[in-house]
Amino acid sequence: MSALFTPFTLKDITLRNRIAVPPMCQYSATDGLVSDWHLPHYASLARGGAGLVIVEATAVSPEGRITPSCLGLWNDDQAAGLARIAQAIKAAGAVPGIQIGHAGRKANANSPWEGDDHIAADDTRAWETLSPSALAFGGNLSRVPREMTLADIARVRADFAAAARRALAAGFEWLELHFAHGYLAQSFFSPHANQRTDAYGGDASGRGRFLLETLAEVRQVWPEHLPLTARFGVIEYDGDDERTLAESIGLVRAFRAGGLDLLNVSVNFTTPSAKVPWGPAFLAPVAERVRRETGLPVASSWGIDAAAHAERVVAGKQMDLVMIGRAMLANPHYPYALARELGVERPSWVLPAPYAHWLERYRLQS
Ligand SMILES: Cc1cc2nc3c(=O)[nH]c(=O)nc-3n(C[C@H](O)[C@H](O)[C@H](O)COP(=O)(O)O)c2cc1C
Repeated sequence: MSALFTPFTLKDITLRNRIAVPPMCQYSATDGLVSDWHLPHYASLARGGAGLVIVEATAVSPEGRITPSCLGLWNDDQAAGLARIAQAIKAAGAVPGIQIGHAGRKANANSPWEGDDHIAADDTRAWETLSPSALAFGGNLSRVPREMTLADIARVRADFAAAARRALAAGFEWLELHFAHGYLAQSFFSPHANQRTDAYGGDASGRGRFLLETLAEVRQVWPEHLPLTARFGVIEYDGDDERTLAESIGLVRAFRAGGLDLLNVSVNFTTPSAKVPWGPAFLAPVAERVRRETGLPVASSWGIDAAAHAERVVAGKQMDLVMIGRAMLANPHYPYALARELGVERPSWVLPAPYAHWLERYRLQS
């Protein structure tokens, strides 16, 4: 009996297995609108058999996009395109999720295959970037952002709530707030990016204020019966990891008290000088610690694509869901390969019926 292929229930939503596709930017939108690329992309990921498919980082405002080609959810036309994606994911038997976020000082970049650096300030595609403090990320992303005023902070919180309302109306059943990866919310929590002296800076409770207030505003509009989750970097790998982890776990406990249902555990990525120990399943022990010390269900990713790893982290209660990203891009039917390797009975039934029937016959005869 495979732990990976057991259902998972959170609030009123049940996933058919513990495999989730994490948000992965496609940099294929214009003006934040869904293009011809997105619908088959997400439909094929859902048809592959994952329990949950989370749509890529979708910006709550124009200046919150990572690149000019990122999806947005600040108007109803964008929501209409996303509604078709939610419907396609659901029709394929997966739960439709979406990640909403604001890129902060990492915004206004070129796509990864066009340089991954900031668009030059005098380019016609340039916009003003915002962050808790006027400090550049560094490396490729060297543009100095404008320090946010209290009015900016209130407006971005309201943008998150408006995007959440639109995501719900578009048919998404799982919401992920992007509080990770050095984007705006993660920047508020990190001393690498936040040197404010007002109520939104200083100690961990000041640096966590924007995240908790944003969660509270979204909680008002996102219904209780559907999962409200966040992706949050809990560790930086900058040599100060015990302090960062302790502070992060304190904030995650406050998220839980504030109505969060699950945490997607990730890395901070707020400084280019971090020494991330890349390797298979390197974040699993960290996810397990967050799960144990906060009592919140967790998901995580980063190199958990071998069947034995994916099975072990769920069976060993290190995480409730396994996020599998790049392996799903390479082969959207990867859950079928995992099911076969793990000895799931009649693994072809992980596939959609028009494929499963013939694969089952082929397998029986061969
Ligand atoms: C093409 C690509 C785009 C990504 N975009 C996002 C994103 O929109 N939001 C996010 O939180 N993480 C993003 N990530 C990180 C993935 O969600 C995931 O954590 C990462 O790929 C590690 O998992 P894996 O080893 O299974 O691929 C992206 C990764 C890739 C490869």
